[in-house]
Amino acid sequence: MATRLIRIFDTTLRDGEQSPGASMNLTEKMEIARALVSLGVDIIEAGFPIASLGDFESVREIAREVKGATVCGLARCNDADIDRAWEALKHAHQPRIHVFLATSSIHREFKLRMTQEEVIARAVAGVRRAAALCDDIEFSPEDAARTEIDFLCRVVEAVIEAGAQTVNIPDTVGYATPTQMGSVIRALIDKVPNIDQSVISVHCHDDLGLAVANSLAAVGAGAGQIECTINGIGERAGNCSLEEVVMALRTRGDFYEADTRIESRRLVPTSRLVANITGIQVPRNKAIVGRNAFAHEAGIHQDGMLKERRTYEIMRPEDVGLERTDLVLGKHSGRAALADRVKALGYVVSAEQLQTIFERFKTLADRKKEIYDGDIAALCEENFTDIAERWSFVGYKLSCASGSPPSVTLRVKLGDDKGDQEQSVSISSGDGPIDGIFLAIEKLTGIITKCRDFRVQAVTVGKDAQAEVTVELEYDSRVERGRAVSTDSLEASAKAFLSAVNRIAAGASPRLHPHRPD
Ligand code: KIV
Ligand code: ZN
Repeated sequence: MATRLIRIFDTTLRDGEQSPGASMNLTEKMEIARALVSLGVDIIEAGFPIASLGDFESVREIAREVKGATVCGLARCNDADIDRAWEALKHAHQPRIHVFLATSSIHREFKLRMTQEEVIARAVAGVRRAAALCDDIEFSPEDAARTEIDFLCRVVEAVIEAGAQTVNIPDTVGYATPTQMGSVIRALIDKVPNIDQSVISVHCHDDLGLAVANSLAAVGAGAGQIECTINGIGERAGNCSLEEVVMALRTRGDFYEADTRIESRRLVPTSRLVANITGIQVPRNKAIVGRNAFAHEAGIHQDGMLKERRTYEIMRPEDVGLERTDLVLGKHSGRAALADRVKALGYVVSAEQLQTIFERFKTLADRKKEIYDGDIAALCEENFTDIAERWSFVGYKLSCASGSPPSVTLRVKLGDDKGDQEQSVSISSGDGPIDGIFLAIEKLTGIITKCRDFRVQAVTVGKDAQAEVTVELEYDSRVERGRAVSTDSLEASAKAFLSAVNRIAAGASPRLHPHRPD
């Protein structure tokens, strides 16, 4: 049997953004949209235009820029939502409106207070309105996995008749099992007379950890599109993980007889980008993109690997964008060698960005003898901020002892309009050195925040490994993140904190979690 091509519908920028704490600003969404195009996704769900002005603008900008993928916007089944979605999408090269309406009895009874007939009438009206505006319409019966199968078949038939070319079957609450999901898709294929006029899609949530398995079962039963997110981020426990489902289809093509257009070497760089932008780190043991996904610890495994890689490896790390080379560059490496590694790691940077990375690389090489791929990735991912920095870190002086408040002096350079002017502050308070540094920054900038998250992790192995620090600060009902790397973890902490404070000062677009209207 010929290999079927399964469409990948990425919803990192819509359902993924609904992960608690994952909201993104326009620049960040544009960056992810570009990465998704390079990854080769077929459809990018860019947002929910009516949800907020920020959502509307990001869908509109992504729609204007993206070529090579369909750009989709979500709408509830009402005129205002659908018209707003079209307003944001109308300049797209390949626009799609995604209309949804809940169909399960629990949603009909308690949320919508509608009968089955009313649900069908509303779904048809919504699809018709969307189809009058746009040539490509997707319909989702929300909570389909808990909908009575005969009613689901009637809804699906009616929306296809009304003009939906894609019918998406969501397991909204992550309740389905693989066998059940397969049966739902088979029932639709068997019972809906016009099903061949549409592509069946699946959209699985991971509440029981079954999102990938359920999506694969749906493909096995005949679905032709998978909705998923990078790193599996999304509402509650998240969505089907793009990298896992894609690599399952590729690695087990013999079983599924299906594949996608995904450029798998872009998986790790895209995963890193999304983790850095959203601040949601990938667990070490996560399949495909976790740090340990290709690490062999047991002696018996290492021995097997040396004799024949396939004894313990079902995929090659390089196929997902993880390079095998470990120790790469050092003090004497030049710009060309660095540019080569940056490219091999999957980063696309401008000449100006490369120059900045090179300068940071030289500083790092003075501090650290061995520079690994992880160090280079961290340099590439350090915020290339789109906002003017009001304060940039110069240095700190610290003395501390356990049991007494630290004494901190912090020096910063003031932004461009003030030339090279420096400012400093000294304080003696805080629970320890990091708290002391954060308090000093707040005193100096006058921006008093609530720290919602603070994380430190080593970028590579070794005692001289760089520390990567991420912070999440709340100020005036919005949340900003900052990230920095340095061989000095206190310096990285100060820079990460200052970066978030700069975003607050610049009034960078609010990142409070957008609530999905329902
Ligand atoms: O989970 C869900 O049901 C959704 C729909 C809007 C497709 O995200
Ligand atoms: Zn969802």
